[in-house]
Amino acid sequence: MSEHSDLLVVGGGLMGSGVAYEAARRGYRVRILTKALRGVAHEVAAGMLAPISEAEPVLGALTQWGLKSLEQYPAFVEALEDYTKMSCGFRTEGAIHVAVSRDHLSQLSHISDTQERMGLRVERLDSDEIRALEPRLTPRAIGGLLLPDEAHIDPQALFQCLTAAHQRLGVDTTVIDQFVDWAGGADRVEGAVVIRQGEKVRYRAEATVVTVGAWSHSLPGLSLLPMRPVKGQVILVKGEPLVSRTIRTPDVYVVPRSSGRLWIGASCEEVGFDPEPRAGEVMELLWEARRVLPGVSELIFERALAGFRPTLRDHLPAVGPTDRPGLWLSTGHYRNGVLLLPATIHGLLQAIDTGGLPDELQAFSPLRFVSCTLQTAQSMRITSPRSAKSIQ
Ligand code: GLY
Repeated sequence: MSEHSDLLVVGGGLMGSGVAYEAARRGYRVRILTKALRGVAHEVAAGMLAPISEAEPVLGALTQWGLKSLEQYPAFVEALEDYTKMSCGFRTEGAIHVAVSRDHLSQLSHISDTQERMGLRVERLDSDEIRALEPRLTPRAIGGLLLPDEAHIDPQALFQCLTAAHQRLGVDTTVIDQFVDWAGGADRVEGAVVIRQGEKVRYRAEATVVTVGAWSHSLPGLSLLPMRPVKGQVILVKGEPLVSRTIRTPDVYVVPRSSGRLWIGASCEEVGFDPEPRAGEVMELLWEARRVLPGVSELIFERALAGFRPTLRDHLPAVGPTDRPGLWLSTGHYRNGVLLLPATIHGLLQAIDTGGLPDELQAFSPLRFVSCTLQTAQSMRITSPRSAKSIQ
């Protein structure tokens, strides 16, 4: 492939891979620039597709966009699985929220009131009804909610499918040592300059998209993007299948995989770029998982992992153009990166194709942080005081 592409994707995680896949299907010549990093979000993601569980009235636009993305998932997965003959582990059995204390019960009552007010489908369950659906739940469950419209996917399998599709579609994935700068003049980004195998290389492109998640603000000119990592720790256990649906309490979630593994998550920690799982959180998560699903005690402990949710100041994604023509962002998806993947890909590519942001993306425009994006930051010659481990 030449060093000129239609689309240059800076960041080879799930978001970048998804954008590259769909763009290549539409006929773009695509190159991904990627770099090995610890704590990449999709490597740790449990894969809940949960716009209803996480709905909040103040996040109405996000909930609507999440519902739209969930609707797009079956066709997205079907096309990818047909093309690759691989499975993404997409399952549509729904999710159950379980109360094992009176405190939980009142939290679930708040969740169901909110969901009903927002017109979302939720069924209240008593303890017998919950255990009829998932017999391995604790006999101490005192109530719960069924969210029949939710789903889950295996994000690591999805990533493998996308990587296989890239090979057939001719997407070039280039592993770089260091990001140096954007290519192009002061007023337009025309690709990127990187160090690769010790050499400085310039990759030119018509459009360049940043999909480096929690590391976005470490790229030149984006240092004032109000991005921070929110650490999530998860635990993998395996053995006899215990449940078929995602199980949640206010303290933990447990997501079953077809491999027989359970993904137990997740902490939400403001501790910077600490990639290590820590004993205290591992203990808490296992304790809470066993409390709702006693059979967890007998499963084989495989490992604990930690990753970084890319989180902007308002906890909403930033998808669309920056104030520098040619440079686009798709980042800041916080707890919803896997859920929002299909809608983000389609919205972003529509915007790149037409030059206009679709209506459902208006609330997520990076330009709401206009004082923190490229031109302003450069003209002010300000650099971030944050000591993020840079992707550069
Ligand atoms: N999407 C669930 C989480 O971020 O923990």
